[in-house]
Amino acid sequence: MTKTVLFSAPEVSWHAYKPYLGDLFDKAGLQINLVLETQAPKDVDYIIYAPNGPVKNFAPFSNVKLVQSLWAGVETALKNKSLTQPLARMVDPGMREGMADYVLGHVMRHHLGTAKFETAKAGEWRNELAPPLARARTVGILGVGSLGMYCGHAIAKQGFNVVGWSRSLKSDDVVKCYAGTDGLRDVLRQSDILVLLLPDTPETTDIINTNSIAQMKHGAAIINPGRGPLIDDAALLAGLDSGILSGATLDVFRVEPLPENDPYWTHPKVLVTPHIASETRIETAATVVIENIKRGETGKPFLHLVDREVGY
Ligand SMILES: NC(=O)c1ccc[n+]([C@@H]2O[C@H](COP(=O)([O-])OP(=O)(O)OC[C@H]3O[C@@H](n4cnc5c(N)ncnc54)[C@H](OP(=O)(O)O)[C@@H]3O)[C@@H](O)[C@H]2O)c1
Repeated sequence: MTKTVLFSAPEVSWHAYKPYLGDLFDKAGLQINLVLETQAPKDVDYIIYAPNGPVKNFAPFSNVKLVQSLWAGVETALKNKSLTQPLARMVDPGMREGMADYVLGHVMRHHLGTAKFETAKAGEWRNELAPPLARARTVGILGVGSLGMYCGHAIAKQGFNVVGWSRSLKSDDVVKCYAGTDGLRDVLRQSDILVLLLPDTPETTDIINTNSIAQMKHGAAIINPGRGPLIDDAALLAGLDSGILSGATLDVFRVEPLPENDPYWTHPKVLVTPHIASETRIETAATVVIENIKRGETGKPFLHLVDREVGY
């Protein structure tokens, strides 16, 4: 029987996804009526969704089995109280690879102290700044989920010691894992470079604050491709100014685009990147969408369902 899938994301995404989705639905043996809008919301079986797409009120879509997000972070989707249907976040292998490139690149930048040479004056020959080997450094990752664990493995391959922290304790051959309040303290104390890959939830807001910064190694650096609210900005700026922290690479912010007068733009120890750490890659993300719809049609449990209680 033909199923109706509503694509609710900006037009540019529709043009990008449409060729892949059509082909993959056929290959998966699914008979799908893929639509951009509908006069009969009760006939819609699945919604492919981005929060900046046209559907804002989910109440009329009473028979929808799954809302599949095209975004990894679901904090905006969860603010929509009409969205009560099962919601899956995007776990995209392509996005994972892109994130590992970003994180490894910026870990290396802090490790090698590259910023100091970029800002050196002519004749400033500071050869005492040769970096130690990667194996003498520890990289901590707060949030060893889909992205964090993959990045941890990429960083470890480069020779760094890698420690990770999550809500539930993980066991991994490469990344030494911690959980709980004591675990967070242990990771903060060990990390020369700290990477934030936590979701934005009430529990993780301001996890980098005056207290947590005080527990960090003197001279540690922070890389945040997670979400802006993970950091208490005033505390981070104070940590950088006091010298506890040697630098920060920030990709995400409480307000985006980051306002022109924000102190991060001009701070000598901060590198701002404009929320480009990694994006959903259409080719791989489309296969994830199809897999979940196929699961719905064959009675298998959906992948990557959001737990509304914990907020991710
Ligand atoms: N900047 C960008 O371009 C970009 C792109 C994609 C994603 N992101 C961000 O990256 C985040 C992570 O994505 P993901 O796919 O890796 O998510 P994920 O698979 O859900 O992983 C989240 C990790 O955070 C841990 N966590 C959540 N709440 C916690 C808490 N209160 N205390 C300790 N650990 C906690 C989880 O612990 P458990 O393992 O125990 O559940 C898990 O390890 C997204 O939410 C999004 O905000 C940014």
